Amino acid sequence: MDHAADKLCCPKCRAYPLVQNSDHLVCKECGETYGVIGGIPRLILKIPDDTAQIQEVFDFEHRLYQDSYYTRFSPRLVEQFLEDCQLPREYFSGKDVLDAGCGSGRWTYALAELNSRVVAVDLTDGGVAVTQAELGDRDNVEVYQASIEELPFRDESFDFVMSWGVLHHTRDTQEAFKQLVPLVKTQGILYVMVYKKDNFLRAFFTNVLRKILRSLPNRKRYDFCRFLVFRHKIPYLLISRLVIVSYYNPSTSRIDPKTMQFGLYDAYSPRYNFRHTPQEVMTWFMDAGFSDVHVIPKTYGAVKIQGVKSGKR
Ligand SMILES: C[S@@+](CC[C@H](N)C(=O)[O-])C[C@H]1O[C@@H](n2cnc3c(N)ncnc32)[C@H](O)[C@@H]1O
Ligand SMILES: [Zn+2]
Repeated sequence: MDHAADKLCCPKCRAYPLVQNSDHLVCKECGETYGVIGGIPRLILKIPDDTAQIQEVFDFEHRLYQDSYYTRFSPRLVEQFLEDCQLPREYFSGKDVLDAGCGSGRWTYALAELNSRVVAVDLTDGGVAVTQAELGDRDNVEVYQASIEELPFRDESFDFVMSWGVLHHTRDTQEAFKQLVPLVKTQGILYVMVYKKDNFLRAFFTNVLRKILRSLPNRKRYDFCRFLVFRHKIPYLLISRLVIVSYYNPSTSRIDPKTMQFGLYDAYSPRYNFRHTPQEVMTWFMDAGFSDVHVIPKTYGAVKIQGVKSGKR
């Protein structure tokens, strides 16, 4: 541990440094203590009920999600990451980076392979436990349990901050976005992916189905999602006009049906699933003083945007 120790601050009062005792960290300013369990500092405050729902559904997912396309770490994930973010491989070497909402750690893995010094945080015990188990013994990876709404890092700590598929699961996507901004160094890059606004009809019926499915226990909802993975194109095309479903074709699909089932569990479980237009997210970047803001093209269902922090507002 420890390449990130000097970046830490108290999530409650933002004072630093945090003092390390045997099995916990203490804030000298406000007296709050934070446990270190399983080698992972738990820099998380009491969370409200709506966030607890998000935590609970993702915790279930990460504990179960251990044999899927995205949790079998291999170089193809690194290539996919580079293709997605469209930055050169050399950019990452030696950079301080934050993976905010790391889930089970696929992009933490990619960043670590690219020789960044990676800090990975997630709201869930399941996510950080899996990430720590897979990657925690690497010198360039540190894992923390924390919320994006109260991140325990000092301003200007990171050259590259990414948050992939996370912000729209908080109660206010733009507010969560704003929490990331101060952590980026001047001239550093912020890179986010949020769900793209869908057509009215599908958004409506997907919300109705989500409401129904959310009344089920996680396991039952996950099992049900298997029926939303279609293997025949015609029913898929018809139903996908109304609700979010997936299509698995053994000869062309990159990901396996089980990974698709997890993706659908992901789409139907969290209480918050906001969707945004690229223009909206661009405005957040501009308002926060970023330049070179650009939308990554051809991203089905997702808005992927990055910008360089210019320091001018
Ligand atoms: C769809 S998963 C994406 C995980 C990972 N970024 C990836 O691409 O594989 C969303 C993740 O966001 C995390 N998350 C949701 N709300 C969060 C919050 N307030 N703070 C930190 N993580 C959060 C969840 O625990 C979950 O791991
Ligand atoms: Zn404090």
